[in-house]
Amino acid sequence: MLSERLLKALNDQVNYEFYSAYTYLAMASYAESQDLDGFANFFRVQYEEELFHAMKFYDYINQMDGRVILEKIDQPKVEYDSVLHLFEEGYKHEKEVTSRIYNLADIATDEKEHATISLLKWFIDEQVEEEQNFNTIIKKLKRIESNSAALYMLDDELATRTFTPPVANA
Ligand code: FEO
Repeated sequence: MLSERLLKALNDQVNYEFYSAYTYLAMASYAESQDLDGFANFFRVQYEEELFHAMKFYDYINQMDGRVILEKIDQPKVEYDSVLHLFEEGYKHEKEVTSRIYNLADIATDEKEHATISLLKWFIDEQVEEEQNFNTIIKKLKRIESNSAALYMLDDELATRTFTPPVANA
């Protein structure tokens, strides 16, 4: 049985993951408006990942006999200056997600709620990868600067990204 405090924090995270999905779909839409289909694909996959994260928390709350309360999802940022700006905003967003996951882990640790600690361990590892994905592409985009041939090569590379839901411990 989850404490009220932990259940509320987990519920907030379900909603934040849906907000994350919405944010990345807005980024996909910007990339699509710039005819950068590979970048758009990257963010569509990111959108699917966030839906997966939201449902992982959703399923866990149900397993623990809690009730998920869905809330209003805020409008994501709409205007961006460039694809570099998308990734900078995405990186910032992922750092915020990491700090929220750490906060959840602090609460679960404080309450000695070991099942939740185990769930959050998966998310802590996932966040390392999430931040790295954004940081790596930011570095590539900074090296590319205004070289449009290199930008289209990166666009082609990102077109190959696919979403594969993790099987083990999913
Ligand atoms: Fe659900 Fe990108 O963290």
